[in-house]
Amino acid sequence: MLSTTLNKLSLWFSHHSAFSGYFEPVIQRVKPAWRQGLYRAQVLNVTKTIGSFVHITLQPQHQWKAHKAGQHIELTAEFNGRLLTRIFTIASSPEQYAKDKTITLVIKTNELGRFTPQLADELTINSWVNISAAQGEFVFQQSNKPLENPIVMLAGGSGITPMMSMLSEHISATNSPMYLRYIAPLNEHQFVEQLESLAKQHSHFTFDLMTRSEHKSQPLTLLANSDVYCCGPQGLMSDIETLSKDAGANFYQEHFSLAPIVNDDSATEIEVTVTLNGNAFTASNQQNLLIQLESQNAPVIRGCGIGVCHQCHCTKKSGLVKNLLTGDVSDSGEQIIQLCISQPLSDLEMSI
Ligand code: FES
Repeated sequence: MLSTTLNKLSLWFSHHSAFSGYFEPVIQRVKPAWRQGLYRAQVLNVTKTIGSFVHITLQPQHQWKAHKAGQHIELTAEFNGRLLTRIFTIASSPEQYAKDKTITLVIKTNELGRFTPQLADELTINSWVNISAAQGEFVFQQSNKPLENPIVMLAGGSGITPMMSMLSEHISATNSPMYLRYIAPLNEHQFVEQLESLAKQHSHFTFDLMTRSEHKSQPLTLLANSDVYCCGPQGLMSDIETLSKDAGANFYQEHFSLAPIVNDDSATEIEVTVTLNGNAFTASNQQNLLIQLESQNAPVIRGCGIGVCHQCHCTKKSGLVKNLLTGDVSDSGEQIIQLCISQPLSDLEMSI
């Protein structure tokens, strides 16, 4: 009751959604990187590997709850005084977390990006970052043990990360065939030793490392009762979804890559539907989301209005937005956005 009242007062007078958020800078003196609503995690290891990948081992604070294999987290880090958040799948298994309370992220560096190129140099050992609770539905769908259906996994590029977690978790739970096809540029495949070791230990598991052209020249054959898991570029996922449907197989995918943009031509006005906390609003691509939602009395928070204070944060569950400061177009999955600098490009589902 007291904390609810304090949080309401905080929202009225300081625009912080929780009272404790008002004292963030003070708490951070004793607990580095403490942030209201997020978990702290300490950086234990950062290693650059072939193909411009970075492997990061984190030790989340003990209140963080173990993930399910295949789930992702939001990783928030401070670079040059700015907080940046991106979504990454956890590559390590829940078993690893149970054993040593660590999780591992394997991240492809995009040299044109603002986040990933800084990871290897800016994240020092024992420094702190923030992570969200684990989330996502891209997990094994068969609840019966042992798993009965043949399992086919298709990974493109960094789409290998959920597959590694799922493999480590479930490979011992079945004797049915498990096949992984991992598509990446030549000499950029990650986890090769780990995959070889799994194949040695488990005769029902086989895998192929392929380039995109090898994948195209060697079509997959799917059985009708297969469970097909796919994570990678949109084109790969669409192809495999069609193949799975034609074969009568079950198809599951992770939605991280870019979905088709409804219209990114700012000169042409389009109208989209924005669902916020379950309520529908309309918005145009000619104005930022904050102004449009405010004008419809949506429960949004305004601070600076220019992308600095982060008080207009909200969680985009699906849909595409363009960051008006950077020009970056989001992917279609879940991520934190700032309403005052976000232009809607498609229908959106969001929550505050
Ligand atoms: S209102 Fe300050 S960042 Fe959006």
